[in-house]
Amino acid sequence: GPALFGAGRVNSTGFDLTDIPTLQAVEAARAPFATHHWQAAPRLATGAGTGVIAPVLSPATLEQVGTVTSADAATCSAAFDLAQNWDAPVATRAAVLRRAADLYEENFGEFFALLAREAGKTLPDAVAELREAVDFLRYYATEAEAAGTRAARGTWVCISPWNFPLAIFSGQVAAALAAGNAVIAKPAPQTPLIADKAVALLLQAGVPAHALQLMPGGAETGAALTASPRLAGVAFTGSTATAQAIRKAMAENAAPGTPLIAETGGINAMIVDSTALPEAAVRDIINGAFRSAGQRCSALRVLYVQEDIADRVTDMIRGAMDLLSLDDPWDLDSDVGPLIDGMSRDKIAAHVDTARATGTLLHQGAAPAGGHFLAPAMIKVPGITAIEREVFGPVLHIATFAAKDLDQVVDDINASGYGLTFGLHTRLQSRVADLSHRIHAGNIYVNRNQIGAVVGSQPFGGEGLSGTGPKAGGPNYLPRFAAPETRATRA
Ligand code: NAD
Ligand code: ALA
Repeated sequence: GPALFGAGRVNSTGFDLTDIPTLQAVEAARAPFATHHWQAAPRLATGAGTGVIAPVLSPATLEQVGTVTSADAATCSAAFDLAQNWDAPVATRAAVLRRAADLYEENFGEFFALLAREAGKTLPDAVAELREAVDFLRYYATEAEAAGTRAARGTWVCISPWNFPLAIFSGQVAAALAAGNAVIAKPAPQTPLIADKAVALLLQAGVPAHALQLMPGGAETGAALTASPRLAGVAFTGSTATAQAIRKAMAENAAPGTPLIAETGGINAMIVDSTALPEAAVRDIINGAFRSAGQRCSALRVLYVQEDIADRVTDMIRGAMDLLSLDDPWDLDSDVGPLIDGMSRDKIAAHVDTARATGTLLHQGAAPAGGHFLAPAMIKVPGITAIEREVFGPVLHIATFAAKDLDQVVDDINASGYGLTFGLHTRLQSRVADLSHRIHAGNIYVNRNQIGAVVGSQPFGGEGLSGTGPKAGGPNYLPRFAAPETRATRA
């Protein structure tokens, strides 16, 4: 068969989807799962748990793709009773996590099917997601070995969002396990089936059942877990509001000083000045704003274009938007998939409708019927201050600025309080140096798009309302999962 991932390397090489034999291999591997019905239920170390059973629906087709049992409070409590740190030597833990990475790769057909059917991900997005997941497994295995033996903290609760149901879920779990902790993992309620498959492979690779338990469920299950006085830490990725709720629950119940790693939302900006190459900027704007239907925390939300080139750039964006194909992500021609559920779709459609009613909607195409599709939209705004909260979908807000107002633009971006990603298109070196110092954002990208941080080389995470740090996929992440230690040195 075609060479797929770069086996054994820290960063996987993924798939070349322009290569026909590779594409055929992908389609063949995916085909057996085209109508498959998956099951997810609590996985306690001793077996199944209990809770309410519900169907899992595809956001693209609304067909039922599986069934999930949410973990009830008694099951969450049992998970804490059963949890045991993974006390194998660090070399063993690293080897098991690498074996899990290999198993993830071997199961690419089923993962691509799950990512399309449960999470609404296009094939290029699914490839990127699987790469990121295996990168996290191998990266934290390598980091743990390099750090050597350190004391585990205890039982970590890992809570993840639906928008990276494999990569972020696996990254949190892998880091906590690599450091020798016990993990109780709660995936997002929209994507429990992918998480169940990931856990099955981690257990198959050799993670002990007492060290990794899965608790599917929604906010209620998450609240039951994070209110436990028995947790040693929480790794959370999701909205800023949920992070605040978790911090409150931990403040009331957990030991003081129990770590919370929270990676949250953003209102991410890009500045395009008049020296930028419009073709390159527009390509990166389209990818940043609309890839993954805008459902990335890193996605571009507010574009500032210098007035001299604004009409030209706006026209080019409009043209590029018309070329995007909105379709069932199972189909290879799909550039933009659906929003994750009806609630998200309705919330963002209302935002676009308000713009239409007030005359600020610059462009929106048509969306296919059936499924939670929303056509990409471009809205004119005076600036980032007009956006009150994260709009988590395919909506690009565009503002223009005069050269003399650049300082004000920077102040406004910083004043949003968020600080996740920032993009800059310019050919002025002095501006790169200046703005990358002044903008408060965790990840700053120059003359490229602002999504798709690469594990190991582009540690990812924000500041302010966007997160606590340490950055995922970077050297400071793993140490947070180990007990702090001070070695006395003798003179
Ligand atoms: P969300 O906050 O609604 O849910 C995230 C997780 O928290 C889910 O598993 C959910 O069930 C759980 N949860 C909800 N209420 C809870 C509670 N009271 N106690 C404990 N757990 C609870 O977020 P979402 O809609 O799943 O994800 C989208 C959000 O995630 C966006 O804001 C996006 O920016 C953010 N995000 C951030 C990053 C990052 O790295 N900074 C990455 C991806 C997504
Ligand atoms: N790490 C993801 C990205 O950079 C969120 O898009």
